Amino acid sequence: TPKSVSYICFIGAGYVGGSTAAVLANQCPHIQVTVVDKNAERTKAWQSENLPVAETGLLDIVKVPRDGLRPSQRKNLHFTTEVEESIQQAEIIIVSVNTPTKAVGTGSGYLLDSSVLEDVVMCIARSARSNKIVVEKSTVPVGTGETVRDILRNNAHTGVKFEVLSNPEFLAEGTAVQNLLQPDRVLIGCLETKSGFLAAETFASVYATWIPRERIITMNLFSSELSKLAANALLAQRISSINALSIICEATGADIQQVAKAVGSDSRIGPHMLRASFGFGGSCFKKDIRSLVYLCKCLHLDDVAAYWEAILNINEKQKSRSVARIVSRFNNNMNGKKIAILGFAFKENTGDTRESCAIDLVKGFLHEGASVSIYDPLVQESQIREDLGIDCAADGGLDNRLTICQSGEEACTGAHGVLVATNWDTFRSLDWDHVARVMTYPRIVFGSSACLDPNVLESMGFTVEIIGKKVW
Ligand code: UDX
Ligand code: UDX
Ligand code: ADP
Repeated sequence: TPKSVSYICFIGAGYVGGSTAAVLANQCPHIQVTVVDKNAERTKAWQSENLPVAETGLLDIVKVPRDGLRPSQRKNLHFTTEVEESIQQAEIIIVSVNTPTKAVGTGSGYLLDSSVLEDVVMCIARSARSNKIVVEKSTVPVGTGETVRDILRNNAHTGVKFEVLSNPEFLAEGTAVQNLLQPDRVLIGCLETKSGFLAAETFASVYATWIPRERIITMNLFSSELSKLAANALLAQRISSINALSIICEATGADIQQVAKAVGSDSRIGPHMLRASFGFGGSCFKKDIRSLVYLCKCLHLDDVAAYWEAILNINEKQKSRSVARIVSRFNNNMNGKKIAILGFAFKENTGDTRESCAIDLVKGFLHEGASVSIYDPLVQESQIREDLGIDCAADGGLDNRLTICQSGEEACTGAHGVLVATNWDTFRSLDWDHVARVMTYPRIVFGSSACLDPNVLESMGFTVEIIGKKVW
């Protein structure tokens, strides 16, 4: 039988580690939770009112265990830079450090860089004086569990034993707290040995404090590592599938919203992640698919690699053809034309711009010679400029063609066309009557039917272009 756990340590107080630790400590007052990060500034931020992660409801969740707000007054969530001591106290150590795509060398652009994770594992091996369960929470290349075991085994103090588990995270930005409180499922991968199963059971008993036992799924280590990549690949694949269908719709007169409703009503398909868009963005989908593609290539499965890579190709195509669609409306000449871009974040309700489709849309219009004005409710001007990689000194003249605005109305003033790149609620409720007055002919509005009502907009004098809908 698994023994009860009283100390857990997270290494890496990022988006995943910090949020997960907070919910765990909140739900398990009987467990002391320590979150270690080498970045002292970040550690401090977690101790303040201004968390480094902006998630709805997260501060309330953090405060209860961190500040001792329960009737018992016992604090059980701590943020620190003291890695060695935290490792020594903990029975379970959860590694949640960054694993970005490698930028140079073998596998660059595809392979996830697990060197930070390996450094941390080495540190665990050297610091631990008693048996530990080490959990991979970061998204890792499939097979990393084996590397982790090797490092631990070869660097352990005499008599100290480790069990390695995989426990990938599935939270989506903007809904992290809810995803952690009520996850669809929790995966725990373990070695299929007696001690492996026992470690998995021990860790499962922690989650079982607040998650129904049937939602906690144990499996082998590699299934768990692969499932993380597979889940993101399948979610992205649905979006690329619906976007690929949207091209057919635009060419034939079918309407992608109607098609999505029709196919999504089949209970075997289901209605989620079928919204046609300018393309998916975010820090995970592209990174994880590329990791999967790299794995396939290493296994010499070139046709399988091509299958997954096609998801990314369709996503790039969706962005370039969207630019082309608007450019064709101007007889393929954007000189002297102004396009407003509403929304720059990769999705609504976040200020995160990683892999946002808006970046490529803006670059496309600038390349065509258009002026572009951008507004996003959360994204800072400096971030937008950094993402676009625009060095004003080097790009003489370009800076005159790029304006970052303080409101949607301001961005649209004098514009010939407007693209709603992020489906923020505030764009739905924009004063479109006013926008029609301040824009210039032909007053094209382009976006998703999730955010725009073509009938209403057309009655105001706009020419409306909807993703996945033919314009007659
Ligand atoms: C299918 C559609 O399900 C149905 O809605 C449509 O109207 C006609 O085509 P059918 O061909 O009768 O129906 O069989 P289905 O049960 O969908 O299976 C098709 C094939 O896929 C079978 O060979 C089945 O063995 C295979 N299959 C199905 C899998 O390999 N894996 C699965 O998870 C499901
Ligand atoms: C995703 C997964 O959902 C999450 O489970 C995983 O842990 C991390 O990656 P996230 O990147 O936060 O989460 O965002 P998500 O809501 O999945 O959206 C990703 C992108 O797809 C966004 O750009 C979004 O606008 C786009 N999208 C989403 C569509 O274009 N159409 C849809 O139907 C849904
Ligand atoms: P994610 O989105 O996966 O949570 P982040 O990049 O937001 O990733 O967070 C990773 C965190 O891990 C960062 O706060 C970083 O400072 C921390 N980190 C990286 N290396 C170490 C290390 N060796 N020891 C402790 N923390 C580390």
